[in-house]
Amino acid sequence: MSSSNPRVAVVGATGAVGSAMQSILASRSFPVSELRLMASSRSAGRTVATPWGDVVVEDLATADPAGIDIALFSAGGSRSREYAPKFAAAGAVVIDNSSAFRMEPDVPLVVAEVNDEAIHTHHGIVANPNCTTMVVMMALGPLHRAAGLRRLNVTSYQSVSGSGQTGMNVLAHELEVLGKDRELLVHGGWSDPGGDLYARPIGFNVLPHAGSFAEGGYTDEEWKLVHETRKILDAPDILVEPTCVRVPVMVGHGIAATAFFSRPVTLEEAQQILAAAPGAELWGDDRVPTPLDCAGKDEILIGRVRSTVGEAGGISLWTVGDNLRKGAALNAVQLAELLL
Ligand SMILES: NC(=O)c1ccc[n+]([C@@H]2O[C@H](COP(=O)([O-])OP(=O)(O)OC[C@H]3O[C@@H](n4cnc5c(N)ncnc54)[C@H](OP(=O)(O)O)[C@@H]3O)[C@@H](O)[C@H]2O)c1
Repeated sequence: MSSSNPRVAVVGATGAVGSAMQSILASRSFPVSELRLMASSRSAGRTVATPWGDVVVEDLATADPAGIDIALFSAGGSRSREYAPKFAAAGAVVIDNSSAFRMEPDVPLVVAEVNDEAIHTHHGIVANPNCTTMVVMMALGPLHRAAGLRRLNVTSYQSVSGSGQTGMNVLAHELEVLGKDRELLVHGGWSDPGGDLYARPIGFNVLPHAGSFAEGGYTDEEWKLVHETRKILDAPDILVEPTCVRVPVMVGHGIAATAFFSRPVTLEEAQQILAAAPGAELWGDDRVPTPLDCAGKDEILIGRVRSTVGEAGGISLWTVGDNLRKGAALNAVQLAELLL
């Protein structure tokens, strides 16, 4: 990377994550010397007002990556697989939000403020973890460092913005359509509002599977929690039992976790560690953090910290974070800051 301020590209610039990346680069005064925005041919040619002046969106398929120092990718896995290696070969460091490279052995998977040091092993591509894993790692990373995480039962309550702009549009539409007749929601008889983003309606509903079904009846989102937790914490033997649920929330993924460690952890110790966790706010018993509280916030919120009541010595907690910010765009910008 050149010694002057970096030239930055946001790939997927018109999406939910790409838009958040631009505002976070600005709000954190990231030293951008030139900003380039890329998306599909549908958006190419559109002018976007940015703190670095008006920028015309380029078509990723024809954009020349020469001269880019840092490329923040959030345009989906297939675009990452095709273009991230080309950008890296042209000299950029790619910070990739998709799952395309996360489990590649030579690609670091980094949660800023949890395993920062891993970033320095990169060979041109750094992977940003899955948004659910990211949020829960902010709480479990410090506990793992203190006591060695051994076993984790984890259930996510994932917002629709995890499915991008489309997810938010679908929820707004279904709340409006289904909400027109409350009697049908109470007694049955509602009509399917249509659409194929999710297997069932998400408005006024809860879907007991987020992501696509994969091995063993678990979804790909659930497998991400298993594999990414182990890679981020550099602990391949951690046992993870995941369930990922989609809920009718616009922004903010909530995660209920029960963790057991290599030794018993008391409630007092856990509270002390979590109160000092960087990038996190521990809420006391009088305030329960919810997705509405975390939307638009950089910090992840932790609450309901309890000692386990079945097998003794573990800790149960609730954590919630803005999936578009710490779960995606903020962490990507923090990784870019680590690279500077
Ligand atoms: N949402 C989250 O919470 C979250 C969290 C972590 C990671 N991610 C990852 O971030 C990525 C984007 O997510 P999102 O939520 O921002 O989705 P989104 O709102 O649907 O935005 C998708 C972006 O990708 C661009 N794109 C789509 N097809 C393209 C193509 N063929 N060539 C170039 N650009 C293309 C879109 O451009 P057009 O506007 O031109 O179509 C848009 O800028 C995904 O890989 C997702 O897995 C998302």
